[in-house]
This record gives sequence, structure tokens and C-alpha cells, in this order.
Amino acid sequence: MMTNNLTSLEHFVTVEDLTNEDVFNLIERAEYFKHGGAVQPLSEPVFATNMFFENSTRTHTSFEVAERKLGLTVIPFDPGHSSVKKGETLYDTLLTMDAIGVDLAVIRHGQNDYYRNLINLKPGQTLNIGLVNGGDGSGQHPSQCMLDLMTIHDHFGKFEGLKVAIIGDLTNSRVARSNMILLNQLGAEVYFSGPEYWYSEEFAKYGTYKPVDDLVDEMDVIMLLRVQHERHAQDANEGTFDGNEYHKNYGINKERYSRMKDNAIIMHPGPINRGVELASELVEAEKSRFKAQMHNGVFMRMAMIEAVMRGRNLGGIK
Ligand code: CP
Repeated sequence: MMTNNLTSLEHFVTVEDLTNEDVFNLIERAEYFKHGGAVQPLSEPVFATNMFFENSTRTHTSFEVAERKLGLTVIPFDPGHSSVKKGETLYDTLLTMDAIGVDLAVIRHGQNDYYRNLINLKPGQTLNIGLVNGGDGSGQHPSQCMLDLMTIHDHFGKFEGLKVAIIGDLTNSRVARSNMILLNQLGAEVYFSGPEYWYSEEFAKYGTYKPVDDLVDEMDVIMLLRVQHERHAQDANEGTFDGNEYHKNYGINKERYSRMKDNAIIMHPGPINRGVELASELVEAEKSRFKAQMHNGVFMRMAMIEAVMRGRNLGGIK
């Protein structure tokens, strides 16, 4: 399904509110940009800032590239040298950005749902800035999900009926939580795998848990999740984690790769723990879409930022 409509959003913070039509519209717009489509000239300057309170390479960089391609003026923000270090709250930091004239903020934050009290304002609060979620704790990662969907659509031209396995550190994965919602909504068959202690009933609503070796031969898409060691400090299993054992039991190695369907693909949001989730020599293999995902991310983020600019009537974008 492709449409000619353009999506308008006040904020882009979760995939939970997106319709299938929104998804197809955003993919279509991202493909337009990817294939050299012109951006709309801005009728006045639009200022954006990227506020990353957690580490990032691809999300931060590709949002910045996307903003520059759209003609936005990007205002640097470094949390380590900001007044957050003096105790200023996230709300007050955003209020400051709003007052200074920043129109849009892309935020990555370790706290789940950090955006809720920034968009559901209390009486008397005046914050007026467009928010794009660059990832919140283990909650949502809308831009990763949308670029993943674009990458799947690039290869298969559809979602309905595709078998997609999401494998690995489910507990900590905002990538899994966003993807399982939209893949399910779009008619894909979702499966989960990896260590059973990272699977819980929360996921059962969206798909079925199976051992990796029962899935590899059957799946159209194998979506690997990064083992998030930085979030495992409190995890009873972390002390005993062995990357070689994980790779043997759950990783995609040459033997599992050889059993995949001819037209199947492997995805990974990055950064990859090479030799853990995926054998190092398979990162750029024919079935791997790791590089394509990162490339698509720029154009999908352009479509997402543009949708918020349209929703907020910024720069005269229609
Ligand atoms: N996939 C992803 O979010 O990567 P970064 O942490 O490098 O942004």
C-alpha cells in the first residue's frame, strides 16, 4: 500500500499512535528523499537541537544530517557542559530552548517515557517545542523502528504475512518494543527468541517465543538485538554472561546463516557486539542489511522531522 498523503504530527515520540497509513506515508516520503527528491524551501529559519543524554553514534549523527539536508539550523547541545549538570530539570532545559527560539528537539534519555510530562502539560505550563524521541530507556525507539520498517519494505515490498524473529536482549530493548507493535499492526508474524530470562509475558501479546534453531530456517527477517551490558548492572545473569556461549546458543553464525531462506535478511540496530549477536564475517554479508539500515535512517529521519515541521507549521512546510 502506497499513498500520496503527507503525515503531520505535533511530536514524534512513540510508534503507538501511528496508523498503518502513517507508516506507509513516511516510508514513501523517505524513499522520495533517498532517490533525490527535493526538499521544500523554508519560508523562515527553523532551529533544531539534538539532546542526547545517552551515548549514540548513528541516531545522533543521522538526525543531524537529516536536519541539515532539510535546511534546518542545528544548535549544538552537550549535556555534559549544560546546566543539567547544575540540577536543571529536563522540563526547564526545554523551556530554555523554547524561550531562546529552538523549534524542535530530538531527545535521547535513559528514563522511560521522559516525554510524557513534556507533551501533557499541566495548567500554567507554556512549553512549546516539537519533540522527536531519539530513544527513551527501554521504552520506545521510533526512528529506529521506522528505518527498520523502511529497510524491510525495500526488500519485500510488504509486511503482511512476513515472518520476523526478534532475537536477544528483549528486556532492555526499545527497538524490540517499537518494532513488535508496528510489525504486529502491519500484519507480520512476530516471533521472539534468545535467552528465556530476557523474555516475559509483555511480549506474548505481539508474538511467540521459540528457540533460535526452530526459527532460522523459517524466517523472512531475523532482527538481532544488541546485548546491552550497560543496562545489566542489576541483572543477576550479567556476572555469568559469556559472549562465546551466547553466540553458540543464540547468535547468527555461518551454519545458521546457511540455513536461512534464500530471500531472508538479517537486521541489527547497531552497535553490534561482533562475534556475539552476529559473526564478525557476516556483518557485511549478502543477507545483512546493517549498512542499509543506517543509510535509510537519514532519509527516514528527514521524513519524521518534516512530519513534525508540517504538524507545527514550521518554516512554511506543507
Ligand atoms: N541504533 C542506535 O540507536 O544506535 P546509536 O545508539 O549509535 O544511536
